[in-house]
Amino acid sequence: MHTSDQKLLASSRTLSRSLAVRILASLIAMLLMVSSILCLYMLDISKHIRRSLAHIQATSIAHNYNISGNIHDLPLKYEGQRLDYTLYSADGDVLYFSEHIEKPRRLRKYVIHPNPSRWMSVFSPSGITTNVPVYLDNGNILMVALNDKYGRTLTDNSLTQSLYNTSLVILLVLLLFGISLIILLLKWTLKPVSNAINIIEGITPDSPTYIPTETIPKEILPLVNATNDAMRRLIEAYQSERRFVANAAHALRTPLTVLNLHLHRLEQNGQNNLDKMKQEMTRVRTLVDQLLELANLECSQPEESRQDDVNLLRIAREAIAVHLPLFETQGRLIELTTSDKQPFTYTINPHAVMLAFNNLIENAFYHGKGNLKVIFNRHADLITIGFSDEGESPARDIQEQLFERFKKVEKNSSGSGLGLAIVRQAVNNAGGYIYFLESKQTHIEIDLVKPLVH
Ligand SMILES: Nc1ncnc2c1ncn2[C@@H]1O[C@H](COP(=O)(O)OP(=O)(O)OP(=O)(O)O)[C@@H](O)[C@H]1O
Ligand SMILES: [Mg+2]
Repeated sequence: MHTSDQKLLASSRTLSRSLAVRILASLIAMLLMVSSILCLYMLDISKHIRRSLAHIQATSIAHNYNISGNIHDLPLKYEGQRLDYTLYSADGDVLYFSEHIEKPRRLRKYVIHPNPSRWMSVFSPSGITTNVPVYLDNGNILMVALNDKYGRTLTDNSLTQSLYNTSLVILLVLLLFGISLIILLLKWTLKPVSNAINIIEGITPDSPTYIPTETIPKEILPLVNATNDAMRRLIEAYQSERRFVANAAHALRTPLTVLNLHLHRLEQNGQNNLDKMKQEMTRVRTLVDQLLELANLECSQPEESRQDDVNLLRIAREAIAVHLPLFETQGRLIELTTSDKQPFTYTINPHAVMLAFNNLIENAFYHGKGNLKVIFNRHADLITIGFSDEGESPARDIQEQLFERFKKVEKNSSGSGLGLAIVRQAVNNAGGYIYFLESKQTHIEIDLVKPLVH
């Protein structure tokens, strides 16, 4: 397609998408329709005037005949135009018709029909002759057919024309007035929308605002509400990301400061504290790993979260086997119990499961007390996996917060507070739920709802 054609098409598309243009077009169409109806009415009026005039003329023409009853008293011409007559009895029988017409004219009892079907009368053709009835004293009806040239000249050329002219001028003025009114109304109607646009244009990450809804028309209120809702979610997400970055920077700063201090000492007086430095390096690495892990989980697509049919029990055994020696150093045990002997199979990413189990077992080791029980249960459409140790459960009101990033009970504990956030993200990705059970001792439960394989 030619470039100019493309431009034309693009601009016509833009125009047709414009709300103002659409409203304007429909209102103009309405205005034109009303004007057309008015014109048709005017045509009708002109026809009525013509027939009324013809009736007056016909009554005067038939005057002599009405008195004498002699058909020869009827003139053959009127104003130089030939006339013809058809005489009907009161019952509608043809009594006479002029010799120079082939057949009698139709009997039309009314000059103007008292109950006209308006539209039919407007569209019914009007011939050159006008055939009007004259009621005679003897009860007969004389149809007088006049060549309508005179009436037509009078009505069409003068009366109708002047009516048209005046009406057309009025119509044009009305049309112009209507269009200006429409434009003003449109501006007034769309003002709240343009105000909203101004507000949206002013939104930056540093000055997030909502669109005020007080002046918004109720038709577009749902759109504005939805936009405000989306804005609220974005603001929350943005603020949470900022908190996350601030927390991550804060968490990284402590081990890095310690590392820096040791490097300084090493440089200044050769005092080396390699063990301490290695410890801080591990902290940094763990934190970076956790942050990456969390970022990966948050960005992962649903198909990545549900990869294989995984035997959850097998993964639990592997995780327990890795951590059992650690527990044993403190004389503690990890016990695995299941509701039945069938494999607990679930379509899930095995890496995410391992990650979740490791974190929960580590939490029980570092924050809990006594033995740890890992309890698998199968229900109709649900697998539940409980991690229950003998330590005191965190206070009810902060339990949910502990699943947020960097949230801990003990501010100075060695962990970074990312473990439970990672676990919740992994479980949520797999379509499951994780929460603290209401109990005196710590009991965290994972519920995997769908899709169950067995
Ligand atoms: N089994 C538990 N018993 C008691 N408190 C727990 C238990 N598990 C978690 N918590 C509390 O929840 C907090 C958050 O746990 P989370 O795993 O998110 O962080 P963390 O263990 O402190 O650090 P890390 O990022 O190394 O895992 C812990 O600091 C602890 O206060
Ligand atoms: Mg932890």
